[in-house]
Amino acid sequence: MTTDTTALSERERMIHRFADLVRTGDVEEYEGELRLGIDLGTANIVVSVVDADDRPVAGGWVHSTVVRDGVVVDWAGATSAVRALTNDVQERLGHHFDKASVSIPPGIAAGDVKVFENVVVASDLDVAEVVDEPVAAARALGIADGCVIDIGHGTTGVSVLEKGRVKLSVDEATGGHHMTLVLSGAYQVPYEEAEAMKKDPARRDDVVGIIRPTLDKMASIAERSLKGVDVPIVYLVGGSSSFPNAPDVFAARLGRPVLRPAEPLFVTPLGIPMTAKETH
Ligand SMILES: Nc1ncnc2c1ncn2[C@@H]1O[C@H](COP(=O)(O)OP(=O)(O)OP(=O)(O)O)[C@@H](O)[C@H]1O
Ligand SMILES: [Mg+2]
Repeated sequence: MTTDTTALSERERMIHRFADLVRTGDVEEYEGELRLGIDLGTANIVVSVVDADDRPVAGGWVHSTVVRDGVVVDWAGATSAVRALTNDVQERLGHHFDKASVSIPPGIAAGDVKVFENVVVASDLDVAEVVDEPVAAARALGIADGCVIDIGHGTTGVSVLEKGRVKLSVDEATGGHHMTLVLSGAYQVPYEEAEAMKKDPARRDDVVGIIRPTLDKMASIAERSLKGVDVPIVYLVGGSSSFPNAPDVFAARLGRPVLRPAEPLFVTPLGIPMTAKETH
């Protein structure tokens, strides 16, 4: 495997642009056919639109609690959120979508995969492709081989990819949710307040030390999962890797370079509608 950090910086700009599009609601000029992706996460539902050249064109998101432990636990909430986000992005683009790709946590049961597909169908869309989350992340990062660690709200996912496919995948229940619980306990504040504090750059100094053991726990999950696995480089994605010290905490345990793109929250969603160049 080659390590092309120049390519990553180009990819980072794209991920950054997508994050801006999601936050501002702007739409980009585009070439050719548009493709839609849907990410049903534990903390957020994100829709993404890319053009024929896999360039980000538009996006949208909403905070959600429709998925827990990789399972859709709120069917009505999931379908109404996907409908609303799709309608909104369609209006902004003046374009109608009749299909969408959807991501799934790797390794979930076939029945649970079907539920993710059904959310798409219930939102009046055909399923274009079901994409494993780490595969989507790899597409956005422009890699086909290597390790992707995704620290989201509910879980830490460790996946090893070969030629764009998942070869090994471990998902354990430690995520941003647990960081928020620790903060809430340490400062004796309600959960929602702790969650806001965690994401507030102005409170970073009050937060980083408190959540570090949770970050280290996540790194230890990765360390255990990667024992005996030859991956020269690790990519860190997911909202909970936003902390400035996250790559260092992981690199210390893993003894390998750890790259975390800017805007790690938006890597997986952006990759969902991208084409699978690696398998062609
Ligand atoms: N700037 C930030 N600093 C720290 N944490 C953040 C920041 N932005 C988002 N988060 C945290 O990231 C998590 C959400 O990340 P993400 O959207 O990747 O998770 P998810 O996909 O919904 O969850 P999962 O992958 O577990 O299903 C939340 O815990 C949120 O608090
Ligand atoms: Mg996620």
